Amino acid sequence: MRICTIPGDGVGQEVIPAAVRVLDALQIGLEFLHADAGFEHFQKTGDAIPETTLETVRACDATLFGATASPLTRVEGYRSPILALRQALDLYANLRPIQSLPGAFSRLNLDMLIVRENTEDLYVGRERVENDDAAIAERVITRRASERIARIAFESAGCRRKRVTIVHKANVLKMTDGLFRETCFQVAREFSNVRADEMLVDAMAMRLVTNPQDYDVIVTTNLFGDILSDEASALIGGLGVAPSGNIGVTNAVFEPVHGSAPDIAGKGIANPIGAILSAAMLLDYLKQSEAATRVRRAVQRVLEFGTLTRDLVSDLGHAGVTTEEMTRAILQQL
Ligand code: NAI
Ligand code: MG
Repeated sequence: MRICTIPGDGVGQEVIPAAVRVLDALQIGLEFLHADAGFEHFQKTGDAIPETTLETVRACDATLFGATASPLTRVEGYRSPILALRQALDLYANLRPIQSLPGAFSRLNLDMLIVRENTEDLYVGRERVENDDAAIAERVITRRASERIARIAFESAGCRRKRVTIVHKANVLKMTDGLFRETCFQVAREFSNVRADEMLVDAMAMRLVTNPQDYDVIVTTNLFGDILSDEASALIGGLGVAPSGNIGVTNAVFEPVHGSAPDIAGKGIANPIGAILSAAMLLDYLKQSEAATRVRRAVQRVLEFGTLTRDLVSDLGHAGVTTEEMTRAILQQL
C-alpha cells in the first residue's frame, strides 16, 4: 500500500516524520511517497499545492498530512492547501474522534466522534468587500452535502452507542441551518436503530465542557465543527493529541487537528501523538485494524508510564520530553 506524506509547514515537518517512523516500524508493507504543500513551498515556488502533489495523493491509497500555515491577511495567489485538497478530492467528511487518554491531562470516559461537513459553509471562500466599509461572506449549505454528512454520522453511530446529536443554529440561520437540520432529520428516519436529537451550537459549546461524556456522535456544519473539535480536544489533552480524517468516496487524508504551531516550531518539542493517532486512523481506513490497535496501545502504554511532552505536563517543574524522545518511546512499545 502506498502512503502519500505531506509534512507541510512548521511542526508538520516534525510530527509527520515521527508518524512515518511508527507506520514503518509496523512492517506491513507500506511505501511512502513524499509530496510538497504549504506556505513555505508557496514562497519558494509561487504554488501552495503543486499539481504533482495532487497527482501523488490521487495515486496513493491514503495520505498523511501535517499542517500548513495560513497568513491572517490576504496573500495574492495563496489559498490554504488543506482546504484546496478537501475540495479537489471532495473529502466531504471530517471525522474527529475524542477519546480519553490515560493521564491527568485527560478527562475520563470520553468516546465521542465529531462529524464535520468538510466542503461548504463559510469555507467556500466567497468573500467580498462592498464600498470599502462592509465585508460579506457567503454561507453555502446544500441538501446534497448535508445528506451525505448525515449519512456518515448515522452509519458511524450504528457501530457505536447509537446516538447522533445534530448541532446547528437554525434559530438564527433559518434557511441555511434550517436546511441542514431538516436534511439530517430526514436521513435519521433511515436509521431506526439510532437515536437522533439536536442542540444549538452555543449550548453544545457549553455542554462539551460540563457533560462531554453524554455524547456519542455529533454532526455539524463546517465552521461549527472546526470550533467544537478544537474545544473538544482540550478535554483529552489539547491539540497535540487530537487526530482527524478527511474522507471522500475514493480518497482520504489524515491529519492532526492542530496547525503549524509557529510558537513551538523548530524546537523539537511538538507532541507527535496527534499525528501518530491520525496514522492509526489511516490504518483503520486501509482495513489494517490490527496494526491500528497496536499503534493506539503503544501510545496508551507510553502515556501510562508518564512519558509526556510539554503540552501535557501540568507540573511546571517538569519540562516534558522532546518529539524525538516521545517517538522513540512509542517505537519501543511497538
Ligand atoms: P495551532 O494548532 O498551530 O496552535 C495552537 C496552540 O497549540 C499553540 O499554542 C501550539 O503551540 C499548540 N500546539 C499545536 N500543535 C501542537 C503539538 N503538536 N504539540 C504541542 N503543542 C501544539 O493553531 P494556530 O496557532 O491558531 O495557527 C497556526 C497556523 O496554523 C496558522 O497559520 C493557521 O492558519 C494554521 N492552521 C493550519 C491547520 C491545518 O493545516 N489543517 C489547522 C489549524 C491552523
Ligand atoms: Mg481548526
